[in-house]
Amino acid sequence: MFRTPDNQNRVDYNPVTTLGECEKVGLYLNRCQVDTPDAVVKEVWRHIAKRRRKIGKVVDFGAGDARFARYGTFESYQGFEIDSARCVEKLPRNAELINACAFSQTITDASICTGNPPYVRNQDMPEGWRERAAAIIEKRSGVKLSGLANAWQYFFYLSLLTANAKGLVALVIPFEWVSRPSSKLLREYIKDKGWRVSVYRLRDSTFDRVLTTSSITIIDKRHDDAVWEFFQYDNLDEFSPLKFATGTGASVLEYKRRKRTEIHAKRGLSPGTQEALVLTEGERVSNGLIRGIDVVPCVTTLRPLMNDAHSLTVNVFSKAYVDAGKRCWLIRTDRKPSKQLMTYLNSVPATMHDTSTCSGREDWWRFTMPTQPAILCATGFRDRAPKVVSNLAGAMAVGGVCGIYGIPQYRIAKFRNAIAAHNFGRRVVSHSNGLRKIEINQMNAVLVGIEKKQKKNL
Ligand SMILES: C[S@@+](CC[C@H](N)C(=O)[O-])C[C@H]1O[C@@H](n2cnc3c(N)ncnc32)[C@H](O)[C@@H]1O
Repeated sequence: MFRTPDNQNRVDYNPVTTLGECEKVGLYLNRCQVDTPDAVVKEVWRHIAKRRRKIGKVVDFGAGDARFARYGTFESYQGFEIDSARCVEKLPRNAELINACAFSQTITDASICTGNPPYVRNQDMPEGWRERAAAIIEKRSGVKLSGLANAWQYFFYLSLLTANAKGLVALVIPFEWVSRPSSKLLREYIKDKGWRVSVYRLRDSTFDRVLTTSSITIIDKRHDDAVWEFFQYDNLDEFSPLKFATGTGASVLEYKRRKRTEIHAKRGLSPGTQEALVLTEGERVSNGLIRGIDVVPCVTTLRPLMNDAHSLTVNVFSKAYVDAGKRCWLIRTDRKPSKQLMTYLNSVPATMHDTSTCSGREDWWRFTMPTQPAILCATGFRDRAPKVVSNLAGAMAVGGVCGIYGIPQYRIAKFRNAIAAHNFGRRVVSHSNGLRKIEINQMNAVLVGIEKKQKKNL
């Protein structure tokens, strides 16, 4: 049965008001509509059937065409889908699909909460929706979600709260939740409850459209032994145990905070819009901006460098970035802008700096000027270690390049070599098509280790 919501327990259901009156709604819906392959839906049900024989109520938030109702044996199924275009009429006899926002009702008696919640980054969520969903989660769980959480995290909490005290949550969600700092609160919440967790990492080819490694994640509220287990699918009906979430014999690289007075890593500058504030050589010249006065060298990626490059010299910077037309000139904000620079900034169309970072500033372009790091290191990598170079060109670290600071001049080369020799790949979880991303505080943990080792060898 397909229905629009009744008034019982209703908070709000109109897609426009629940998602917010804004143009982003269409984009949001478009982003989150990835269908789960039938084989994965069946596999989720196989995991459920292994853990529960008699199933009462099943709830599915972000149900799409209610494909999770097609399999499994249960008394009743309630799917919530905000997009009426996705709501099909033909459903199994004991299933209903409700055209409403998942956060519009308060359910606490589901035996099973299942589904594939929307994957939408925080910055692509419709205005106001995130705040409303976060307030509901906080009220029901006491957890205050970080503004950085992706949509699926909100749905994950909602599912945990909707399943009854002995209920089971079985979701298709990104594998990254097992290790990323942005999901730390969620992991702690689950650990604190002691629920049993089984995470089955799916192969990267499972979904065509999503570039994130997915998982079937099962949280069993019936158990309070806080057992966490990890598995990896070899193909869709076989999986093998993983000792650690990394899939190697080593645990996930730990996180360490470092003081500014110590050797430390810092994330690359996010100026608000690279398009307007990080220029190519052509853009610099045509706007009459002077090197050193209006702009300084920067790198947003280390991709143009050879894999075995040890340093970014002035020469290499010129060839691989300036002459190659890469974005490599960061405008200066630490001095009064020259007339030329001001003319350039005033000529930038408003649409180009229509980002939340730029709009939140008094002057849309005025970011805090970074300093030159001693070492530049990519944050994304495949295989063993990210590219890392001594910064002889004095380039600023921007975007996906992090900077390493506080190293005395005479130790820079040795430090750089030690980072390059470190096997990050063993201890950093790959989250999309073999691509790994090192977090800043993981890099800090590596720096602490290198420092200790070097001191011992002195
Ligand atoms: C990844 S799709 C999954 C669809 C379907 N369950 C499947 O597995 O194929 C996520 C669905 O969540 C829906 N959705 C997004 N935000 C929602 C909300 N606030 N309430 C209810 N459904 C929502 C989207 O329209 C989309 O159909």
